Amino acid sequence: MTSANRLCFLFAFIVLGFRASGVACRRTAADMAMSLRHERWMAQHGRVYRDAAEKDRRFQIFKRNVEYVITVNDAHRKYKLRINRYADLTNDEFKASHGGFRPTPTKAAPTFRYENETIVPPTVDWRSRGAVTPVKNQGECGCCWAFSAVAAAEGIIKLKTGKLIPLSVQELIDCSVYGEDRGCNGGAVEDAFEFIISNGGLTTDANYPYTASDGTCDAVKSSSKEATISGYESVPGIGEPSLLKAVARQPVSVAIDAGGPEFQFYSSGVFTGKCGTNLDHGVTVVGYGTTADGTRYWLVKNSWGASWGESGYMRIQRGAAGAPEGLCGIAMYASYPTV
Ligand SMILES: *[C@@H]1O[C@H](CO)[C@@H](O)[C@H](O)[C@H]1NC(C)=O
Repeated sequence: MTSANRLCFLFAFIVLGFRASGVACRRTAADMAMSLRHERWMAQHGRVYRDAAEKDRRFQIFKRNVEYVITVNDAHRKYKLRINRYADLTNDEFKASHGGFRPTPTKAAPTFRYENETIVPPTVDWRSRGAVTPVKNQGECGCCWAFSAVAAAEGIIKLKTGKLIPLSVQELIDCSVYGEDRGCNGGAVEDAFEFIISNGGLTTDANYPYTASDGTCDAVKSSSKEATISGYESVPGIGEPSLLKAVARQPVSVAIDAGGPEFQFYSSGVFTGKCGTNLDHGVTVVGYGTTADGTRYWLVKNSWGASWGESGYMRIQRGAAGAPEGLCGIAMYASYPTV
């Protein structure tokens, strides 16, 4: 026995008992370090597993994810990943519970009010104009569609009325049974806009708070309509130039392919990685710009909490070569409410 293995045996014996300690000690010292890292991560995120088998399974996933993050970061790309609270989930598990976008053909009338905008500012950040509420966390509820619609509505209402009113995502989850809307099982942004219009508005997030689960529509709360939209339009075509015109004037709901593990662990920088166009996640574009090294980007508000990405935001490359539909399909399915 090497001294590392002796230590390991002692440690494993204390933690796991005699039977498991032999198995554990066939692990290398590197695995030991990884194991400790997993323990620290579990404590940090309050994670508890039901038994040793589940813990070992989660450890193997954690280890693969740590190695993946290190590999990507060592490649010195324009963006960095980091281990976060999703570190013990496979990418399939993550995708199943943190998206919720159902692609549907657009129902908007074929008008695009910004089609003749010829001059757009070089940089837009609707946060600096006070038109964006704090980032929220959808949790394990596939209701990105509702967060995306609410953020776009909050934005245009602020720009038109001067008031930034955090609106109720939960009301959409519980009460919008329009079209594709299925609460935590996914929905479509345009159907959410349809609900807001026909309901005559949405109540506030404070009055009808988020629970990250499906509920029965509270008609009393839903009848207290704090703000509304009067219609919505979709950005025509699949090109980024049209999306730019719209985002220059207001926050815009978009759908992206957020299926890759790089999204799960995105930390900072402009995402320039590989990405498909299998739209599975609804987010809101709240600006755009160009970095000091000339990389153009979209500024995206996500709903995975403020500890994910850049305080809850992600920058996705704009004008990526070979992606006429926008990287991750960002310009394929964009719409915005009107007031
Ligand atoms: C854009 O300009 C064209 C040509 O002048 C005009 O027909 C069209 O109505 C304009 N679109 C909007 C949304 O104002």
